[in-house]
Parts: sequence; structure tokens; C-alpha cells
Amino acid sequence: MALQDHFKPRPSDLILVTPPKSGTTWLKALLFAIMNRTKYTFAQHPLLTRNPHECVPFLEILFRDQISDLEAIPPPRLLATHLPYSILPTSVADCGCRLVYLCRDPKDVVVSLWHFARKDRPDMGLSEAFELFCDGVSLSGPIWDHILEYWRESLRRSEKVLFLKYEEMMAEPVGNVRRLAEFVGRPFSEEEEKDGVVEEIVQLCRFEKLSSMEVNKKGAYELGGLTLPRESFFRKGKVGDWANHMSREMGEKLDRIVQEKMAGSGLSFQAS
Ligand code: A3P
Repeated sequence: MALQDHFKPRPSDLILVTPPKSGTTWLKALLFAIMNRTKYTFAQHPLLTRNPHECVPFLEILFRDQISDLEAIPPPRLLATHLPYSILPTSVADCGCRLVYLCRDPKDVVVSLWHFARKDRPDMGLSEAFELFCDGVSLSGPIWDHILEYWRESLRRSEKVLFLKYEEMMAEPVGNVRRLAEFVGRPFSEEEEKDGVVEEIVQLCRFEKLSSMEVNKKGAYELGGLTLPRESFFRKGKVGDWANHMSREMGEKLDRIVQEKMAGSGLSFQAS
């Protein structure tokens, strides 16, 4: 509510939006690398020594705890949020700032979420987490509503919202990094293309690279009163890992719910 009443977005702001466990860490790293590519060399890049969450703050947490820091970030500000579109301050919709949305097959999300939540709730079984997720009980509300709200807005205002899927980013990272750069108004020049900058960004932000860095293996990150080990943002980084944890029936049940909720929207998550 405080955010709705008082957040003052700037037209140059870039807001990264994801449902939890949908690739937030990856998107933060990619956009940070894209936006700052002329400032740093790849050999001395801040992403080699800082966790992506320390490079791109969560709007709702910064707003609550360190509002002066939020005001002090020089433009263009890179901010992230898990908030549903309907809860975002209306000032965000009305201002010229842009939103990059990343979502993921809900089956992989629930498995990722369960692994993450187990660090705090080791007693929670996958079936309990799964049933809650299917009932729409989730940190940012039902995932289908979250995805659909941003999907519809991306269709209505494609210059405002870029809608991406984790699976498509994994299948075609280079093309999607170009798309991201164009959307945020920083397309790659011919010279950068020739110098392989796009590929360097993809390589720098790959799961294997980020998860193997000392900074992401050790220590903890303060997230809204929670102390989270930095390594907890990196588990497998694969598409379709749900099948190693969930039964076929569970997969079919969640697919059915998602298909029903998304019927007529033109959006789907292929069974994988
Ligand atoms: P898994 O648990 O399936 O491995 P978030 O960043 O939104 O919390 O999402 C975490 C998920 O993204 C985890 O999925 C994590 O392993 C994966 N991930 C983290 N960094 C990634 C990267 N650079 N590329 C692809 N996936 C990544």
C-alpha cells in the first residue's frame, strides 16, 4: 500500500517482473550486463564479484527498508519485483517506464519453489507444496493470474511490457538478449555484434558460470528480513526438471489447471 501511494517511478526506470522462482536471478544478471556493458570489461565485471540480487534490488524491499537508497540510484534505475500487475502502483502504468516480464512453466516453478522453501521448512513435502500451489496459494498470488495480467498488458502495450518465457530464453539466449537490448532502448551496434558482446553477455550470465562463482557459493543475502544463502538462488537451472520430482498425474493436473485458466488468452505452456 505504501508503494502504491508513494512510489514515484521515473520514465527511464526498467522494472523486471517475475513470479518467484521463474528466473529472476538470471534476468537481473542479463539486464544488468546489458545496461552496463560499456562501463565494465568482462574480465572485471561486477557480476563476477557480486550476486545479481545485490546488483538489482527488489523494489518492494528497498521501498520498505531503504527508501533513500531507491531515490539515490542514478537513472536508468534497474528494479525488480514479484508484485502482480494489479497490485503495482498505478503510477507505474501511467509513467513511461518499461517492464520486462519473465515467466516459466508452472510445473518447474513449483518444484523450484519447493526446494527453496524447504530450506526454511524442511518438513514440507512436495505434495503439500504442490496442493497449495494448485489452490493458488503462492507468495505473489495464483501464478496463472500473475502471468495472465502481464501477458494481457504486453499485448495491449507492447512498447511498455516485454513478455518472455524462461524456456524460450534457454532455447535461444542470444536472440533473446538482442530482444532485451532493443526493448530497453540499448540495441547492440554492428561493432558490438562483430566483437561478440552479445555472446559474452550470454556466457557471463549462464547458470553454469554464475553458480560456479565464489561470490554465489558463499555467504548470505539479506532479503526483506530474511537471510538467504547466496547459493539458494542456483539449483539446477534446467527446463523440465519437474519430471524428476512430480508424478505424471501431478504434472497433468497442474497442466489442466493452467490450460483452463489460460483458455482463450493465446498463451500456453507446452507440456514438457
Ligand atoms: P531451479 O530451482 O529449477 O534450478 P529465481 O531467480 O526467480 O529465484 O529462480 C530460481 C530458478 O532459476 C532456479 O531454478 C535457479 O536454478 C534458476 N537459475 C538461477 N540462475 C540461472 C541462470 N543464470 N540461468 C538459468 N536459470 C537460472
